[in-house]
Formats: sequence, C-alpha cells, structure tokens
Amino acid sequence: MTISVIVVAAGSGERLGATRPKAFVDIAGKTLLEHALSALNDVAHDMQVIIVAPAPWVGAAEDLGRAAVSPRHAVVVVSGGATRSDSVRAGLGVLADDVTTVLIHDAARALCPPEVFTRVIDALTAGAQAVIPTIDVVDTLSPIDHTTGVTGFAVDRSALSIVQTPQGFSRKVISDAHTAHPENATDDAEIARMAGHNVMSVPGDLRAFKITHPADLERARLLLGQAEDLRVGIAADVHAYDDHTPLVLGGVAWPGEPGLSGHSDGDIVLHVICDALLQAASLGDMGTLFGVSRPEFDGANSRVFVDNVLQRLAEDGFTIRSVSCQLVANTPRFAGRREEISGLLTDIVGAPVHVASTTSDGLGFTGRGEGMAAFAVALVARHGS
Ligand code: CTP
Ligand code: MG
Repeated sequence: MTISVIVVAAGSGERLGATRPKAFVDIAGKTLLEHALSALNDVAHDMQVIIVAPAPWVGAAEDLGRAAVSPRHAVVVVSGGATRSDSVRAGLGVLADDVTTVLIHDAARALCPPEVFTRVIDALTAGAQAVIPTIDVVDTLSPIDHTTGVTGFAVDRSALSIVQTPQGFSRKVISDAHTAHPENATDDAEIARMAGHNVMSVPGDLRAFKITHPADLERARLLLGQAEDLRVGIAADVHAYDDHTPLVLGGVAWPGEPGLSGHSDGDIVLHVICDALLQAASLGDMGTLFGVSRPEFDGANSRVFVDNVLQRLAEDGFTIRSVSCQLVANTPRFAGRREEISGLLTDIVGAPVHVASTTSDGLGFTGRGEGMAAFAVALVARHGS
C-alpha cells in the first residue's frame, strides 16, 4: 500500500477573520499548516504529502512543508481552488503514480494527533474502501426553525456522530467519486457516498477539532500551553457640563439632564471606553483619530466611534476580553440605569462591559458640578495574524 496524504490548506478562513489565510495563522510559534504537518512525522508509513495552498502562498507552503515534514515523506505543493472540493481535486491531480491509498486532511484540524492517521490507515489496510474518524455528539440536537423556534423533539444523538479528518480512501474510489460528482461537498466521504460507496468509521479525537472561529484558535493555544498575549489599556476623560446640550451618556439619552460639551454628542462613557481599547491595542487615541480636526464627527453619535474602534481592533487581531468604566459625576443619578447601560455596552462590544458611577464628595470640579470625569480599563487578547 502506497499512501498519499492531501492536506487542504487553500481556504481563506473568513470566519476566523485573520489578516492572512487560516492555514498560515500562527499558534505557539508555528502556523496551523506546520502543526497539521508535524503529526505526519509520527505516522509509521512513508507517504507522499500533498499540500494544497492558496495560489499566492504556494512558495511559502513549499518552504514550510520542507522544514516541517520529515525527509522520509515526499512533499508536493499545488495551488487550490475556489471551494474545498476544488482544492481536493487539485491534490488528487498530482498523486504519484504508485499511490493506492489517499488520505485527505484539513489543515484547519491542526492539532489532530498522529494516532488518528494510523487508525484510518489501519482500517484501509484491513480492507475498507472509505474511512472517516468520528466522535460522539455530546450536546442535545433539536430541530429548529430560526423564526418560530423548536419544531420537534430532540434527535436521538446516539445514532449520529461528528465527522473529522483525515478521511481515507482507496485511490480509485475517491478519484472516480470526485470525477463523477464535481459539486462542492463539505467532506470527501460525502462524495464517496454519493458515488455509492460504504463509509466505515474509526474513533476520531477531540483534539482534531476544526479551527474555525477566533475562540477555536484560543482553545488551540491553550491546548498547546501557550500563554495568552493579554494587553491592558487605561484611559481618562473629562467633559464640562453644557446646559444647552441634551445629555447622552453610556449610549442612551437622559431627557431633562444637563448635557456635556465637546466634539460629537459628548458621550464621555463611550469616549473613554474607546480610548482604553485603543490604548490596549496601541492603536492611537480618540483625539488623533476623531478629534476636532475631523469636522465630519461634529455632533456625531458616539456609536460611530465605538464601531470604528471595534473594527480597528478586529483588523489588528485583537479580541476584547472585558471593559470596566468608572464615572465621577454629581448628575445624573446613574445607579438606576447602570444595569441597562452595562448590558447595552456588553452587547455592542461583544465582551463584558461594566459601568459604575460615584461622586467626589463635593471635592474638585466634579464635586462643584462643573463637569464629569470618567476612567476606563480594557483587557484585550491578541491572536496571531
Ligand atoms: N479549503 C481549501 N480550499 C478552499 C476552501 C477550504 O483547501 N477553497 C480547506 C481549508 O484551508 C481548511 C479545510 O478546507 O483547511 C476546511 O475548510 P474551512 O475550515 O471551512 O476553512 P476555510 O474555508 O478557510 O474557512 P472559512 O469557511 O471560514 O472561510
Ligand atoms: Mg470554508
């Protein structure tokens, strides 16, 4: 039996939202692709390793592949296609002549241990034509209509399984199936089934989860024992009261309360939170990004700043962990709306935000009722980009 393993790494990783294709995102000093390839070095069989990379990354994949894969395996790199199935077909197109058995693996399952490869190969050696690694479903599965809610009773999960990769096939089965079914499918066993083949299963592994969303990347980092790259930011802001302006504070209107002077709507809570987030990510500050030199922000709803700041952080690979804000003000009486505002800002920011208020006991400019002060601390985590 001569084995080829096709590692599909040509996706863009849209759901991960990194600044480079997912397979080239770094965890613990190595790309997902390198992690995925390193498992092959602990599989006893010598193999042809076919890496399917995005066209502009073929050169990088060749360098990484040569460094990560043991010289007893032969590495080939090809560029992928628009869909996963297209990428698999690109890999099938460069199988070495003597290959009889094909494994197809997602680079996104970067932490899949070598034993899963070995189990799939063993099942093929024992005569199976198509093999998938599976794990049990642990959650309840309910039929649902996203408008009307649950539409029936929970499905019997003992009759279902979660399908992983590497999936293994005899060469003729998977090559013919992909030729007969050129449509896109989420995996190759599905294509083999469309072509009428039985698919056997072997135990998968929880570590073979597919890195899809930023939280999966965090999980992978934790599994590898990599300390998180956490950063904090702190900010302070002061605004004078202005009786002629309506008060907007914490993203909500306060009818009848004296407002705040300042550029935009003067929402000191949103401003200080934005500044703390920018500080944490070393991305500048509100004054430079949106200050008086930018007349388009005159009278602006401060939500515009928050959306802009959130986008800047996401583009730079930051996930917000939590934000805490302390207001110092004589008026308004904040406590009654604290939960409402903290909840609203938590929804907007996508991480816990807590806002509290105090007075300064009659001392200083806040005590004399000349203005408000606000302070914020933000905690963010940087993920690989
Ligand atoms: N893949 C590929 N070619 C494509 C699409 C996907 O080689 N045109 C690969 C991915 O690189 C990944 C595997 O197929 O290793 C599983 O796909 P998925 O997790 O969906 O990755 P992406 O398509 O990159 O992510 P997203 O769907 O979020 O964009
Ligand atoms: Mg995809």
